[in-house]
Amino acid sequence: MNKISEKELAAIAAVKLVKNNMTIGLGTGSTAAYMIRHLGDRIKKEGLTLYGVPTSKATEKMAQENGIAILSLDDVKKIDLTIDGADEFDPYLQLIKGGGGALLREKIIASNSEYNIIITDASKQVNRLGKFKLPIETIPFATQQIAAQLQKRGLEPVLRKQDTVAFTTDENNNILDLNIESYYNLEQLNQELMTTPGIVETGFFLTTTDLVLMGKGSKVFT
Ligand code: 5RP
Repeated sequence: MNKISEKELAAIAAVKLVKNNMTIGLGTGSTAAYMIRHLGDRIKKEGLTLYGVPTSKATEKMAQENGIAILSLDDVKKIDLTIDGADEFDPYLQLIKGGGGALLREKIIASNSEYNIIITDASKQVNRLGKFKLPIETIPFATQQIAAQLQKRGLEPVLRKQDTVAFTTDENNNILDLNIESYYNLEQLNQELMTTPGIVETGFFLTTTDLVLMGKGSKVFT
């Protein structure tokens, strides 16, 4: 039998916490994809009714294929639980997200959820955030000017590309990936970035996470 990957183990553990009739914030990425497939399995086997608020168009399609009823944020009174992946997490449950480019909707959904679970493999655990480049989402009108400002501050912005053209998010924005390794006060950096006109969102998720489920070897750790 094939060994279950660490990402899938974490996803399975999170899916066990889901109950009938819940409204779930559905994350984006390869770990979240396992979660959606396992939710689909529970719907088929147990006849559950589950509602999902997706964080990307890709997740929306996959959730529909797996029998989850799609709701928009406008349609829901509350999101019971959001399950999403991360690019890095530290001992204080602070995250960097946005490797898949869905950080804006992911932040909105996480901020509107009663409980947030992050599912990861062991490679995402760090003592200090910053090895992974911090994604920020920028309005195309301002991207070049923002990149020039951030370059002067030593953040080494790189415009994310897909094939040879600028990557565009589901909201038709750009992504700049920043080197934050020399920054220690992440809250202050986040504040400075978030108050720069034209930056729509950062991939810092510093206060939203309630629980991390990390697959490591054949076990899941909290
Ligand atoms: C997408 C994200 C993802 O959760 C993050 O990139 C992790 O992805 P994966 O599960 O594929 O490793 O933030 O914007």
